Amino acid sequence: MDENTRYISNTFQHNGVPYLNQFNRSLIETPEIVKCREDDVFVASYPKSGTTWLVEMVSLVMNGGNTDFNTSAWQQERHPMIEANFKAPFWLPWVIHLLKLLKPLMPKAIQNLVFLKRLLLAETHMKAAIGIEHMKRLESPRLLKSHLPYQTFPTQAISKKCKIVYVARNPKDTAVSYFYHCSLGMFPLDYKGSWNEFYELYVNGKVWYGSWFDHVLAWWQRKGDDNVLFLKYEDMKKDPKGTVKTIAVFLDVTLSDDIVDKIVEFSSFKSMKSNKAVNISLSIGDKNKHQFIRKGVVGDWMNYFTVSQNKEYEKIYKERMKGSGLDFEW
Ligand code: A3P
Repeated sequence: MDENTRYISNTFQHNGVPYLNQFNRSLIETPEIVKCREDDVFVASYPKSGTTWLVEMVSLVMNGGNTDFNTSAWQQERHPMIEANFKAPFWLPWVIHLLKLLKPLMPKAIQNLVFLKRLLLAETHMKAAIGIEHMKRLESPRLLKSHLPYQTFPTQAISKKCKIVYVARNPKDTAVSYFYHCSLGMFPLDYKGSWNEFYELYVNGKVWYGSWFDHVLAWWQRKGDDNVLFLKYEDMKKDPKGTVKTIAVFLDVTLSDDIVDKIVEFSSFKSMKSNKAVNISLSIGDKNKHQFIRKGVVGDWMNYFTVSQNKEYEKIYKERMKGSGLDFEW
């Protein structure tokens, strides 16, 4: 089985969209089962659009710039991805418990083994690994995250008019970022195919969550809804302060200028890259591998798209975006 086939085969399909087998199938097939509260806030996006950054910003706006909360636990634990469903094998908690007991007795070289760090990190992941369970444990107001397409989004979030902040990023940078994400090196992000192979999957909507166009355009249609705020990654980059203020107005939160500055600083690329509570690669400890908080720039696609890929993609982009009124900076 080649890499592409293996990558695609770890998925199931719903409405023609591929989802990783470790996502919650019943939640995706029956979005009514997600119990939402009226004051829930959601960050939604197609993967690799700056979701983690936006979650951090929205979280800080909601808690009035209290950065202690944002370093207190891994972001996924504070703000779970609702469709995540990473069921740990029954023996894992026991192995982790044993490792924790033995760790102080181990030589430093063994303690630093990446595989050991990953196992210990799994404990953090396990707390939030089943999104639908973990979200029940959180106090209101909850900030939740999801990459689900609009058609598959929790129906209660829509009917209860929960506030939803959606972020979209130009699809070429999203593709490159997605390629690196899938190649992070830790299951299921252990894609070993080339960029050219990944491009083919991406352009054909054969990656998790399917076609960028279907996802973004369906959410773009909702931009006029009172409870939906549609943002673009490129605008966030250009004007982070303005973005924080826009989010605050949308969430009816009043913030002083100092707090706005604090939020911008705390959620800056530099600060997030060195924050273990968001940059999961730091905790894994393999600095030679790709980083989760990677480059954070607009235009990295130019280093990856070949001339012919770009020509093909431009043509598809023009056709699919025609008449939508939505455009991006590249
Ligand atoms: P790159 O891979 O292009 O660097 P998501 O959170 O949706 O998975 O998106 C990840 C992308 O957002 C990555 O893009 C990551 O580096 C970028 N990102 C994360 N935090 C950021 C920040 N504070 N400022 C700018 N970009 C950020």
